Amino acid sequence: MVELLLLLFLVPFLLYVTAPQIRKMLSSGVCTSTVQLPGKVAVVTGANTGIGKETAKELAQRGARVYLACRDMQKGELVAREIQDMTGNQEVLARKLDLSDTKSIRAFAKDFLAQEKHLHILINNAGVMMCPYSKTADGFEMHMGVNHLGHFLLTHLLLERLKESAPSRVVNVSSLAHHLGRIHFHNLQGEKFYNSGLAYCHSKLANILFTQELARRLKGSGVTTYSVHPGTVKSELVRHSSFMRWMWWLFSFFIKTPQQGAQTSLYCALTEGLEILSGNHFSDCHVAWVSAQARNETIARRLWDVSCDLLGLPMDL
Ligand SMILES: NC(=O)c1ccc[n+]([C@@H]2O[C@H](COP(=O)([O-])OP(=O)(O)OC[C@H]3O[C@@H](n4cnc5c(N)ncnc54)[C@H](OP(=O)(O)O)[C@@H]3O)[C@@H](O)[C@H]2O)c1
Ligand SMILES: *[C@@H]1O[C@H](CO)[C@@H](O)[C@H](O)[C@H]1NC(C)=O
Ligand SMILES: *[C@@H]1O[C@H](CO)[C@@H](O)[C@H](O)[C@H]1NC(C)=O
Repeated sequence: MVELLLLLFLVPFLLYVTAPQIRKMLSSGVCTSTVQLPGKVAVVTGANTGIGKETAKELAQRGARVYLACRDMQKGELVAREIQDMTGNQEVLARKLDLSDTKSIRAFAKDFLAQEKHLHILINNAGVMMCPYSKTADGFEMHMGVNHLGHFLLTHLLLERLKESAPSRVVNVSSLAHHLGRIHFHNLQGEKFYNSGLAYCHSKLANILFTQELARRLKGSGVTTYSVHPGTVKSELVRHSSFMRWMWWLFSFFIKTPQQGAQTSLYCALTEGLEILSGNHFSDCHVAWVSAQARNETIARRLWDVSCDLLGLPMDL
């Protein structure tokens, strides 16, 4: 009885005392690069909140011209002004980009290409998680459409600029959740079966496969690519699931702030000499292990070809 009581008090007490240490452990990985970015141009998708906003803020702090590519211009403009005020960098520009509509992606790219001669850093950060079954303007399943195909098209359209601006980098924000992902080529749009959690995992696996295939295809071009697991981060990502919102709330003391979540994206975008690790996956600012699926070149090639086919793009770069 006494032991039980002791345990009942001791465990929460110990947790309470060690929480700061546990938190520190779970949020390790800091981008220590001191690289400054005057004259550099960066695009961050989904930069109006969460990890993307913190990433954009840091790039602006270092002097880059930063495009906040957002689907909601009101939110975008507000955050652009906030970052301008905070960093003193006036070249923080909000632009309309809805990744669930290829017309919007093409319009964004057209404007950008007309305006900018360079693109040094592209951060494919925007993402949706656990949406109820829905489709993009072009009829793609929402997770696959926004998280993978939308960024696939965007990257294709901006690739010439990236090549012309080499050394340049593409960072893909993926997730640890890719371990549960599979590319079901016969059910890519979730029409035969659908689970919102798994759909997210599949799309995040697609991000990694894309990153690796892109790295292979861009070898020698001076454009390098990296995929990232940002960690478990307090953000609006869980907005579609009350269960996940509850979990995030329960563990809120242990999970990363968006600022901590941005560290690995920044590490991949900024660290000098990282080029030899192009195509790799990073977590907590270190190379991280990916699933067998994510290392399978056959699947990566096939996904590439199918994606080009769906988007009406030529298959070779
Ligand atoms: N949070 C985590 O624990 C965690 C873990 C692993 C990976 N990630 C990844 O980290 C990335 C950033 O997520 P976050 O946690 O910062 O989530 P977040 O706070 O929900 O931010 C997501 C961003 O993506 C934008 N977005 C969503 N749909 C879009 C569309 N159709 N077109 C353009 N932009 C769109 C959102 O815009 P609105 O504000 O207008 O909706 C928002 O700016 C995602 O790729 C996510 O998969 C996060
Ligand atoms: C990130 O993923 C998207 C979609 O899967 C892809 O278009 C893009 O090229 C990838 N970026 C990198 C650096 O691999
Ligand atoms: C890659 O995936 C294909 C199709 O699922 C499979 O047949 C093949 O054995 C895999 N290759 C490796 C090296 O795992």
